[in-house]
Amino acid sequence: MKTITMPGVGGGISQVALGIMRMGNLAQPKCDQALQTALASGINFFDAADIYGRDPELGRGSSEVHFGQALRHVGVEREQIWLQSKGGIFADEFDHLTRYEASQQHLIAAVEGSLRRLHVDYLDFFLIHRLDPLVEPTQVAAAFDVLQTSGKVRHFGVSNCNPRQIELLQAAVDQPLLVDQLQFGLGHTQMIDDGLNVNTELAATTDGLLEYLRTKRLTLQTWSPFQYGTFAGTFIDTPAFGPLNEVLARLAAKYQVTKNAIALAWILRLPMKVQVLIGTMTPAHITASAAGSEVTLTRQEWYDLYLAAGHRLP
Ligand SMILES: NC(=O)c1ccc[n+]([C@@H]2O[C@H](COP(=O)([O-])OP(=O)(O)OC[C@H]3O[C@@H](n4cnc5c(N)ncnc54)[C@H](OP(=O)(O)O)[C@@H]3O)[C@@H](O)[C@H]2O)c1
Repeated sequence: MKTITMPGVGGGISQVALGIMRMGNLAQPKCDQALQTALASGINFFDAADIYGRDPELGRGSSEVHFGQALRHVGVEREQIWLQSKGGIFADEFDHLTRYEASQQHLIAAVEGSLRRLHVDYLDFFLIHRLDPLVEPTQVAAAFDVLQTSGKVRHFGVSNCNPRQIELLQAAVDQPLLVDQLQFGLGHTQMIDDGLNVNTELAATTDGLLEYLRTKRLTLQTWSPFQYGTFAGTFIDTPAFGPLNEVLARLAAKYQVTKNAIALAWILRLPMKVQVLIGTMTPAHITASAAGSEVTLTRQEWYDLYLAAGHRLP
């Protein structure tokens, strides 16, 4: 497993991280097994959110409860892993999104809720999950100060933010925003399309996000690496993605890995700080995906995959 370094944080952070969004309704032994497999595959970074999981007994945030229990069952020392959570999204009991909120009071409450459910004293990273258009950046700054000085959060970042939103917050917040977590993968390539299609009829709308993160040396955390659409399903072995699966299979054979590993290597081929958040809870898929960290695709292979995913070059 290759690792990345973040300024002010240190090195040794695994390039592949396990997201626990799908842990909320899983039986506890399967959660324990997913954690154990991830650790054995070299994964030492875990991504949570207060909104992940809604179990009939445990309620909203059940993913964090299950993961906290798994940490104790597997016997993981807190300092052995990097633990990240996110807050700022509200949903009702039917999982319909109702609002975003980045008020001082809510951000502090969100972190305290995550710490309680996870049964830990601190988070390594806390991210604003999606930015509230009604945000007052001074309130975010006040919340981050309280969370950092109380020792509850060590580092901060954002998710699903464009460059202007990052700058809006960073102008008010003392702590460096180190991470932007965004959907990206062979099934969701807007950030690449944007740079390739400048001034064409296909011009996209991500406002140079990839280049911005690279210039500012932020870490791009990519979510849903194997999905197309937003949670529409995985493109791996899906007939609608025939040409893509043919190229994935060819390269998997060449590098003696699985299609998951090649899809992951395609993301990690970006010459910037990238961390991929995988969400599978199946041990074999965790191990197979993590192996993608060791594969370096050639430039032509990277383009072959992009084209096979249904894109064209202008
Ligand atoms: N910031 C945000 O707004 C945001 C949004 C969404 C997610 N996230 C983060 O990103 C993490 C990953 O998201 P994700 O779970 O959507 O990512 P993902 O890893 O792309 O998708 C996982 C899903 O793909 C399936 N899958 C993977 N490999 C497969 C294969 N070879 N064959 C068949 N099915 C396969 C998994 O099923 P199996 O379990 O059967 O393998 C699972 O259902 C989340 O846990 C969360 O931490 C963040």
